[in-house]
Amino acid sequence: MEKRILLIVSGGIAAVKCPDLIHRLSARNIATRCILTSSGAEFVTPLSLATFSGDKVYDELFCLTDESQMGHIELSRRADLILIVPATAHILARMASGLADDLATTVLLATDKPVMVAPAMNVQMWEHAATAHNLEILKQRGIMVIGPEEGEMACGEYGFGRMSEPEDIVNAIEKYFSQGNRLRNKRALVTSGPTIEAIDPARCIASRSSGKQGHAIANALAHLGAKTTLVSGPSNEPDPSGVSVVHVQSARDMLVACKDSLPTDIVVCAAAVSDWRTKKESQSKLKKNGVDQKVLELILNPDILATLSKLSKERPSLVVGFAAETEDVIAYATKKRMTKGCDWIVANDISTKTNTFGGENNTVNLITSDGVENWPKMTKTQVAEKLALRIADALDQSAKG
Ligand code: C5P
Repeated sequence: MEKRILLIVSGGIAAVKCPDLIHRLSARNIATRCILTSSGAEFVTPLSLATFSGDKVYDELFCLTDESQMGHIELSRRADLILIVPATAHILARMASGLADDLATTVLLATDKPVMVAPAMNVQMWEHAATAHNLEILKQRGIMVIGPEEGEMACGEYGFGRMSEPEDIVNAIEKYFSQGNRLRNKRALVTSGPTIEAIDPARCIASRSSGKQGHAIANALAHLGAKTTLVSGPSNEPDPSGVSVVHVQSARDMLVACKDSLPTDIVVCAAAVSDWRTKKESQSKLKKNGVDQKVLELILNPDILATLSKLSKERPSLVVGFAAETEDVIAYATKKRMTKGCDWIVANDISTKTNTFGGENNTVNLITSDGVENWPKMTKTQVAEKLALRIADALDQSAKG
């Protein structure tokens, strides 16, 4: 089936490459409809975009005829992917702030479709802390970024900020579309974040987990087409788009939510579940009353990973657990794979020197029945993407044989 891209052309000199980009997309059976920002129109004309795309070019938010025939919601609905080429520092900033001051940014705020951007700007603008911060926010929201490259710029400077070539952009899009089907018709369940176990109305037991890794995995599985449910304890991470998110507090709530989302094909338990909870949660705030020692009686929480791994009916095809360890990482994780009954363990060193908890990077080892793979240090997003692709490979493999 032909794919459809909504191309937003913003105002940089690289906009002149858009007709060529549209031509290359159409050669690969990808149709393009364009939105041209007012500054984009300084570099490329609506007529040349219309000629190459074979479609009307949209450039005004308040054109009543357009709104009645093809409003901003409809433009997004009819696209499989929204692409911003070139993505200037300004449009990235407007997106990161959630502005909706023209047609392009209004579409971007109103869309639930995947968004890909190809930044293009002067090297100083690219390296500015504001741009880096905006890009980080956008990446966390699941926006895909192509480039930029290092090279000669139209302004005469040299460095990072040069837009990726149209052929590289087309290749990234084709790759995205082909991967977007890999887990179609599969269901995935991911746990993420910490759990919170109340001691009394004011205090709790919690674990140090940001939810970054689990949320990134839910995002990556959804990008491959899996119908994904994310069951998350309290986290500052935004809900990934295209994922159904269930917010929970305690381990017992998490288990109930996980069971409610069965049956599923894939389970990834990335949550840092609190192993214990107090035997009796106090309904009123505990008082010090001059006592300088207090003993809390703790009981074990249900083990969600082990429960899902050992389901006798409708056991998921692949169950993946995490093992966060501070020493003898591989040995403990290998043992954990056996005791929990899961198929794979992603083991990581969370000793303070690695800065894994709450940090952007993760260095993991994947433990399967075939042995141990050491993965290099990567961002949590990259770990998630690689893991999702490995999961897709494993399901392909088991379908074949
Ligand atoms: O037992 P431990 O906490 O070291 O095991 C870590 C793995 O088990 C993680 O995948 C975590 O999500 C999962 N787990 C769980 N329920 C628990 C404890 C851990 O699902 N109660």
